[in-house]
Amino acid sequence: MQPLIAPSILSADFARLAAEADAVANADWLHVDVMDNHFVPNLTIGLPVVRSLRKATDLPLDCHLMIDDPDRWAPPYAEAGARNVTVHAEAAADPVQLARALRSAGALAGLAVKPGTPLEPYLDVLTGYDTLLVMTVEPGFGGQEFLAEVLPKVREARRRVESGHLRLHVEVDGGINATTIEAAAEAGADVFVAGSAVFSAADPAQAVADLRQRAAGAG
Ligand code: DX5
Ligand code: ZN
Repeated sequence: MQPLIAPSILSADFARLAAEADAVANADWLHVDVMDNHFVPNLTIGLPVVRSLRKATDLPLDCHLMIDDPDRWAPPYAEAGARNVTVHAEAAADPVQLARALRSAGALAGLAVKPGTPLEPYLDVLTGYDTLLVMTVEPGFGGQEFLAEVLPKVREARRRVESGHLRLHVEVDGGINATTIEAAAEAGADVFVAGSAVFSAADPAQAVADLRQRAAGAG
């Protein structure tokens, strides 16, 4: 399995986003954390920034929407050209219909679950998704510590993919760094979001390459 590394611009300099994207041009996806100060207690960026970023980089945009009412607000991110648009299972009213809307707007559809949210209630719904984002911290802030107790959920998702029940990327987000990425890869993740571990590094591109190598060695 080829690991995909998705640096999160939450830890980048928001006044220099084009340059920050250039600094990780060797990444696979660029992870964009959209927060509305309702679903999570933090406020970041929205659609206008995603539209501008789309023009400023060739990296595929991986938009992680930590927002209420994604049924209404998520499809425009797909229309703006995001490669993958992930909504939270806890926030979506009709996740089946929402996945269809995201796909018909040309994006991959992603469903995210918070650390305390089980997979079981969403197993049917997930057959219509391309990405499952397993949060390995409570959503809202970068720089938090990786929650290893979430790894059984990653394993469970990978088992469902291997048995053919699901066909999707298993993405982990939160606290991923050189120390934790191997455990996440070994549990079956194939997309790795890393914010502080990449953008706090002296050489962000080298940090991406290093994370990729560790994930490939462990997965
Ligand atoms: C947290 C965000 C993450 C965050 C990860 O709610 O979804 O994408 O940027 O940051 P690190 O890698 O620093 O934990
Ligand atoms: Zn995220």
